[in-house]
Amino acid sequence: MKTDTNLILIGPMGSGKSTVGKHLAEKLRREFFDTDIEIEKSTGVKIPLIFELEGEDGFRKRESQVIARLCTRKSIVLATGGGAVLDQQNRRILQGSGQVIYLRTSIETILERTKRDQNRPLLQTDNPRVALEGIMKIRGAMYEEIAHIIVDTDQQTLKEVVTSILADSA
Ligand code: S3P
Repeated sequence: MKTDTNLILIGPMGSGKSTVGKHLAEKLRREFFDTDIEIEKSTGVKIPLIFELEGEDGFRKRESQVIARLCTRKSIVLATGGGAVLDQQNRRILQGSGQVIYLRTSIETILERTKRDQNRPLLQTDNPRVALEGIMKIRGAMYEEIAHIIVDTDQQTLKEVVTSILADSA
């Protein structure tokens, strides 16, 4: 991998993008960015409040702006929000701005990893499983469409995921 190539993590909520991204950045001594954190920094509020005040559409506009801005950089590790791939322009930008790594994760694992989480508005429903099934039906193919590397995270520890990304993108 060239030293200026960005590493871009995509995948559903709970796939480990932020945690894996931080570790990758540390190992490679690169700057780490997370689109959700950038949105929270620029607005000064948490994601659920943005959804409440501006709806998902408002959130998506902010997300697209952050993606466009961060993808002009080089040599970074970028963790994206799970819905970043919904927008075609985002997909084009992400795919063209670096090595895109899809952390593929089963619905079972996502449910387990997010069950106590109140920071993800799309899962605050009576039946998160049904919500996730709907989400993955739409997004599954989109993640695969732009991924250069696919890593299945279900049976792997964080350390193993990081190691396999480093090996695959070498
Ligand atoms: C979302 C995922 C979240 C966050 C927002 C919407 C989604 O990010 O961007 O709640 O649509 O899947 P994570 O994937 O980091 O949880």
